Amino acid sequence: MNEVVLQTQLPLKLFKKGKVRDVYEADDMLLIVATDRISAFDVVLPNGIPHKGRVLNMLAKFWFGFTKEIIANHVITTESVEIVSQINVLKEYEGMLKNRATLAKKTRPLAVECVVRGYLAGSGWKEYQEKGSICGIKLPEGLKESQRIPFPIFTPATKADTGHDMNISEEKMVEIVGEKIGQEIKEKSLKIYETTCEYAEERGIIIADTKFEFGLCNDEVILIDEILTPDSSRFWPKDDYVPGKPQNSFDKQYVRDYLESIKWNKKPPAPVLPEEVVKKTTEKYIEAYRRIIGEDFKKNQT
Ligand SMILES: Nc1ncnc2c1ncn2[C@@H]1O[C@H](COP(=O)(O)OP(=O)(O)OP(=O)(O)O)[C@@H](O)[C@H]1O
Ligand SMILES: [Mg+2]
Repeated sequence: MNEVVLQTQLPLKLFKKGKVRDVYEADDMLLIVATDRISAFDVVLPNGIPHKGRVLNMLAKFWFGFTKEIIANHVITTESVEIVSQINVLKEYEGMLKNRATLAKKTRPLAVECVVRGYLAGSGWKEYQEKGSICGIKLPEGLKESQRIPFPIFTPATKADTGHDMNISEEKMVEIVGEKIGQEIKEKSLKIYETTCEYAEERGIIIADTKFEFGLCNDEVILIDEILTPDSSRFWPKDDYVPGKPQNSFDKQYVRDYLESIKWNKKPPAPVLPEEVVKKTTEKYIEAYRRIIGEDFKKNQT
């Protein structure tokens, strides 16, 4: 089945339903299912984007593999056959789960979001304009919006249950997670960003900034959640990159343009997207997959 998946209802305990992913619990594991939901301006839209969930899950899987020498991660398996053989009640869902789900070790998540920025955008750009620094890191004067920062910076944030995450200083982060772990997650975050950003840029995608989460598994700090997807990062098409203004989003450009064009007030409920916008958006996700993984995405997967 290659149907669009907007909701899942698996016979497991629901751990968390995010904007895009449905996360379930099974013993000491989590099953993270990437649906085809899409959000814009923090609101989930009524349409699904065909293939989006699989693209996101497979991108995260690719990057977890790519970074495994830098740090261990939570992935147990992304093979649906293995998932259903470990969790018997999922047998009849194998087709839906194929390439869409990650079975992961359940960890104790650290209560900070590890943001790395290579370019000035979003809340980083806002803070720089006000203070000339981001999260207490002084930056050179005269940088323009979307400009590359001379060196990638680590700008932690707290995880907010509602509303937006709040940028915090490194000292504040250390108060939350402790000195040793604080140093470790900073170093790892920067290292992961540097290697993956270089790789993506060679393939035409600028990862302007990104967010990592870490968790403790038997006292070891490991990488969790999703990594380096367009949902957890700002992806910009390198071809169109011009500093001095906001950049087009690699994946959501058509969606945002459409929503701006009809002057939606950005409050729920969100309007239905026209078929053409949905189609072009699917193409962008598939293009991101092709560029990063270096193979064509197979639409017929089950
Ligand atoms: N291996 C793991 N161990 C424990 N918790 C995890 C693990 N991987 C991910 N998580 C947690 O699972 C949750 C996934 O939620 P999800 O990202 O889908 O929604 P959200 O963060 O609430 O909202 P959004 O949709 O805006 O991202 C996060 O709280 C994340 O920290
Ligand atoms: Mg999240």
